[in-house]
Amino acid sequence: MFETKTLKAGSASISQEDQFASAVHKGLSLDNKCLPSWLIFDSAGSVIFKAITELAEYLPAACEFEIIRNHKNKIAKLISGDKFNLIELGSGDGCKTRILIEHLLNENFGFHYFPIDISSGAVTNLVRSLEAEQQDTHLQVTGLIGDYFDGLNTITQEGSKQNLVLFLGVTLNNMDRDTARSFLKNLCETLGPKDYLLIGFDLMKNPKLLYSAYNNQLFEKFNLHLLDRINQMLGANFNKNNFVQQGQYNPNTRAVESYLYSTCNQTVHIKSLDEDYHFKAWETMQTEQSFKFTLEEIESLATESGFQIEEHLFDSQKYFVNSIWRVAP
Ligand SMILES: C[S@@+](CC[C@H](N)C(=O)[O-])C[C@H]1O[C@@H](n2cnc3c(N)ncnc32)[C@H](O)[C@@H]1O
Repeated sequence: MFETKTLKAGSASISQEDQFASAVHKGLSLDNKCLPSWLIFDSAGSVIFKAITELAEYLPAACEFEIIRNHKNKIAKLISGDKFNLIELGSGDGCKTRILIEHLLNENFGFHYFPIDISSGAVTNLVRSLEAEQQDTHLQVTGLIGDYFDGLNTITQEGSKQNLVLFLGVTLNNMDRDTARSFLKNLCETLGPKDYLLIGFDLMKNPKLLYSAYNNQLFEKFNLHLLDRINQMLGANFNKNNFVQQGQYNPNTRAVESYLYSTCNQTVHIKSLDEDYHFKAWETMQTEQSFKFTLEEIESLATESGFQIEEHLFDSQKYFVNSIWRVAP
């Protein structure tokens, strides 16, 4: 079975369109304009992100491929029965997970894969390509288009199977510390004692390596895509030619911060918000942040959010870690 479902936003939450509009207004009204990076991800944003992950200077994806390839046996040993759910939060194109899926199929595990992502194009393409490759196997796939927790709650309410939850890439790195902590606390409350979380963290490394990963044509295109999205979703008149992007590691916040700089004095009108937003020449608008972690910080984060660490899986250069967590007893 290969299917895709669009999730309804939970009863307490507002629609994705309203969340988008409210995040844009809030971010553009700040003295230091700042927009969250999840706004960039629609189908086209996912395609650009995928191209970034294939650049030689973008290290996290290559490191994570290496980790999953080298440790797929160890990851499979976390499964205690013959039936379980493989749940992936923010799956994107799921390319690293495919290595694990193939391994688990070869080892004859019966499992149901649930990729969850707000990007409908990413989920639809992933389910379609798995269907083309794995239709003769016993793999079951349900792609869920929507928010992490709307997806997770739907799956975990349905049964008592063991869950192996994947949260790969730099998705957690993009959250500030408070958001990361409350996200992980919520996740911990959703999981049971036999479930596992495999979570990726980009580790602190030479800032020169970080600079080249976040300063190239594709990364600029990815950040400028945010302006296209605001134009499309909210009827704005951003002109991408009036902005340039630059990313830099900030040792005070311990994050690579990516900014769009306005190259001139300009006013942008957003029709659906009925608002004008002014940009002075060379004023910045932060569009991305990627916090870099030490192992001590990862250990504190796990403890503070109710998890215990079972093991760290590293790449050969120790640039990245996929950490295996369980709900602490
Ligand atoms: C940094 S990308 C990582 C993609 C993939 N896991 C990888 O390792 O290449 C973050 C992904 O999370 C998705 N995402 C962001 N916020 C989300 C949310 N609230 N709910 C579900 N998916 C979300 C984005 O659409 C994007 O595909």
